[in-house]
Order: sequence, then C-alpha cells, then structure tokens
Amino acid sequence: MLTRTYRFTKGRTMTTLEGKVAIITGARRGIGRAEALTLAGAGAKVVVCDIVFDDEMTSLQDEIAAAGGESLAFACDVTKKDDIDHVVAQTIATYGRVDILVNNAQTGLTPVPWEELSDKLFTQSFESGPLASFRFMQACFPYMKAQGWGRIINTSSGASRGGVPNFGHYAAAKGAIASLTYAAATDWGQYGITANVIYPAILTPALKGYLEAEPSRRAEMEARVPVRYVGDPLDDLGPIVLFLASDASGYLTGHPFFVDGGAGQGPR
Ligand SMILES: NC(=O)c1ccc[n+]([C@@H]2O[C@H](COP(=O)([O-])OP(=O)(O)OC[C@H]3O[C@@H](n4cnc5c(N)ncnc54)[C@H](O)[C@@H]3O)[C@@H](O)[C@H]2O)c1
Repeated sequence: MLTRTYRFTKGRTMTTLEGKVAIITGARRGIGRAEALTLAGAGAKVVVCDIVFDDEMTSLQDEIAAAGGESLAFACDVTKKDDIDHVVAQTIATYGRVDILVNNAQTGLTPVPWEELSDKLFTQSFESGPLASFRFMQACFPYMKAQGWGRIINTSSGASRGGVPNFGHYAAAKGAIASLTYAAATDWGQYGITANVIYPAILTPALKGYLEAEPSRRAEMEARVPVRYVGDPLDDLGPIVLFLASDASGYLTGHPFFVDGGAGQGPR
C-alpha cells in the first residue's frame, strides 16, 4: 500500500484549492454545475452565476454548503458587460481576490440550417461565447497579474472543428474561444497565469436534448467514443477541471484538452 506521496519541489499540489477563489459562469446545470461542485469540494470559494436564477441555484449553494464549502451566487447574463463587471466587482469586494476563471456559459447550442441562420443568432453566439470570455478574462486579469497566479479555463467544442451539421454560428464562436485562449496564454504566462481550453463531450441536459432529438443519435455517438459511453459531468470532467485549476498544471498553458473519451476531436 502506498503510504507516502511524493513531495514536489515547487510545492505543487492538485488536491487542494484552499485559499483560492473561482468564478464559474453558466453554473446552474450541466458542466458548469459540476465544475462548481468540484472546485468547491477541493476547497475553493466559488462564485457561481447563470442567466437563469431559480431554485436550482439555491440548491447548488445548499449542496456546496452541505459539503463544507462556501459560495456566492449571482444572476448574470454573460452577454451583458455590466453583469460581468458586477460579478467580478462583488467577488473582489467579498473575497479580495480571484484565482480561477471558468468561462462555461454559451448560447446557440442547437443546430440551425444555414438558410435560417440569422445575423442575430450568429451575433448572440459570439456575445455569449468569445466576447463574454474575453470580458471576464479582462476583468479578472489585473487581480491575477497582481497575485502572480491565475488559471483560466475556457470552453470550446468539437463542433468548432467540423463534423456536426448545421452549427455554423456555434462552431465559429467556439473556434474563436480557442484562439482567444491561445492568445492569452502567450501574453499572460509571464505573470503565472495559465489559459487552457476544454472540448467536452459530456452527458448534460443540453447534450441529452440534442441526442434525444433524433432516435439514432445517442447510439451513433456512443459507438464513436472509444470508451463506449458519454462522460458524466462530475466523474469524468470534474477531475480534469480540478487539475487545470490547480497549482499542479502550472507548466501547461495554451493547450486544448479533449474531455471526450477519445471521441476523436483531435487536430484535423
Ligand atoms: N455537453 C457537451 O457535451 C458539450 C460539448 C461541447 C461543448 N460544450 C460546452 O460546454 C458548456 C456547457 O454546456 P452544457 O452541456 O453544460 O450546457 P447546459 O445547457 O446544460 O448548461 C449551460 C448553462 O449555461 C447557462 N447559460 C446559457 N446562456 C447563458 C448566458 N447568456 N449567461 C449566463 N449563463 C448562461 C444556462 O442557463 C445553463 O445553466 C457550453 O459552453 C457548451 O457549448 C458542451
């Protein structure tokens, strides 16, 4: 039996986020909720926000508190700059710092045939995706820079690399999020801030809705995944996000992480 853990010389650890403060957008359900529970479970104080603020947000806070964690919750539409600035300002007012930013919220998650794709929908995908990620990153940057430590985890999609029909609006927005992440990684690594991007294939309410819209979709997707199942938000994505949020990942920045059971979203 293993009785000792190796002590990394830089004191790096991924088992605790004690003393860290994390902001998670779109935290009411799905991937964002799992990310909030994971980071809170590891000791971070979590600031959760979502455009929908109802009992589900209260239950998320209750679940965090029941596990001994601490949270703040806000109604926040990430397409609104004022909402973003409010969340960051309140985070700083309450905790005096922000260490981890998880940009998860996104609209436009349903396919739209090209003939019906409007400027409005296309623009909304960009406002909720890359523009919101940029605004949150820019608002958090001064604090992370001053601390000499920060972790940014952005959320792209395999759809940005093609292969999913009728997702022009979403694919373009998700591709821009990846590019934004790589650009920030280039400029912010010198301040101890890493920026990485995840490509999930995770069974959330949004993905369930998509898979159930056509009877054969779920079986087709599972057949394409080498591990033969579509991952769980907490069990399969949580540990990856914890690693990327932790001290242990300090030498990794500007990378895509395909949290997809090997589904083949890799470089094309
Ligand atoms: N589930 C997957 O397999 C998968 C695959 C690729 C990418 N993604 C990405 O992962 C992220 C989460 O996806 P999910 O499957 O958990 O989706 P979901 O729909 O289950 O959850 C998304 C959450 O974001 C919130 N939200 C939506 N628009 C918002 C806005 N304007 N402001 C604030 N909050 C908003 C929703 O209310 C919801 O609580 C998204 O960025 C999505 O594009 C997911």
